[in-house]
Amino acid sequence: MSTPNDGARMATEPLLHARHISKNFGAVQALVDVDIEVSPHEVVALVGDNAAGKSTLARVIAGVYAPDGGTLRIDGKPLPSHTTRGARSAGIATVFQGLALSENLDVTANIFLGQEIIEHGLLDEEAMESMARDFLKNLNARIPSPRTPLANLTAGQRQCVAIARTLVGKPKLIVLDEPTSSLSISQTAEVLTYISQLRSMGLGVLIISHNLTDIRAVADRIEVLRHGRNNGSFVASDVRYEDIIAAITGAPSGR
Ligand SMILES: Nc1ncnc2c1ncn2[C@@H]1O[C@H](COP(=O)(O)OP(=O)(O)O)[C@@H](O)[C@H]1O
Ligand SMILES: [Mg+2]
Repeated sequence: MSTPNDGARMATEPLLHARHISKNFGAVQALVDVDIEVSPHEVVALVGDNAAGKSTLARVIAGVYAPDGGTLRIDGKPLPSHTTRGARSAGIATVFQGLALSENLDVTANIFLGQEIIEHGLLDEEAMESMARDFLKNLNARIPSPRTPLANLTAGQRQCVAIARTLVGKPKLIVLDEPTSSLSISQTAEVLTYISQLRSMGLGVLIISHNLTDIRAVADRIEVLRHGRNNGSFVASDVRYEDIIAAITGAPSGR
C-alpha cells in the first residue's frame, strides 16, 4: 500500500497528533472535538480561561483519563493504552502542578525517586549522580550540584528538578501544566530557559500557562481552548496580544 507520497507524509507527521478529542464529566463537556499537534523541536502553548479544559487535555494526553472520543497518535502510532503507563511507554512525560518532590532528599535522589537505577540489588548512586549531572547540564540548570538538598532550592530550581525527572524515561514529548503559576518574575524567566533547552534537545513541549507574556516569549505556536473547544491557533512570533485575548474570551478582536 505504498504511494509516492508516503515519504513526504511521514516526514510531516507531527510527534503528537490528537484529533477530535472529547471528554465529559457527567453533564460537563470538558473537551469537545479538540485537535492538537506538537512536533519535535517545537514548543506549543495551550492557553484559555479557567475551566477551558486545559488540564483535562493534559491529563488525556498523559493517559490519566481515556478520552470519550477521538484519537491520540504519537509518531503516527496510537497509544498502546489510555493509561499513564501507556503514555509513558509511548514517550509522553508530564509535569503536573504540585511537583511531588521530596523535601528531605537531594536533587539526584528526587530525579530518580521511584525510578532508581539498581545494579546487583544495590542503588547505583554513581550512575544516577552522573546522569543527574548530565540532565542539569543539558537544561542549563542554575543548580549548584546534583547533591544539593531539595530544601535549599528555589521554586524555579525545583521546577528544573521536576523537568529533569521526566528525562529519565527518555521522553519525546513533555507536557507541563502551569509550570510558572506560582513563581516570581525571575524564577519564571529561569523556567522558560529550561523549556527552550527542552526544545533545543529536540523534544516536543506542550506548556499550559495563564501568562501570555511568558507564552509569547517561549512558544512557537499558541493554541487557544474556550469552553472545551479549539478557538484559535497562532504563530507566536507574529500574533497580537489582543487577538489571543479575543480568542480566549470570545470577544471580537477589533480587526
Ligand atoms: N475530575 C473532574 N470531575 C468533574 N469535572 C471536572 C473534572 N476535571 C475537570 N472538570 C471540569 O471540566 C472543565 C474543564 O476543567 P479543566 O480541564 O480543569 O480546565 P482548565 O485547566 O482549563 O482550568 C471544568 O468545568 C471543570 O470543572
Ligand atoms: Mg488547569
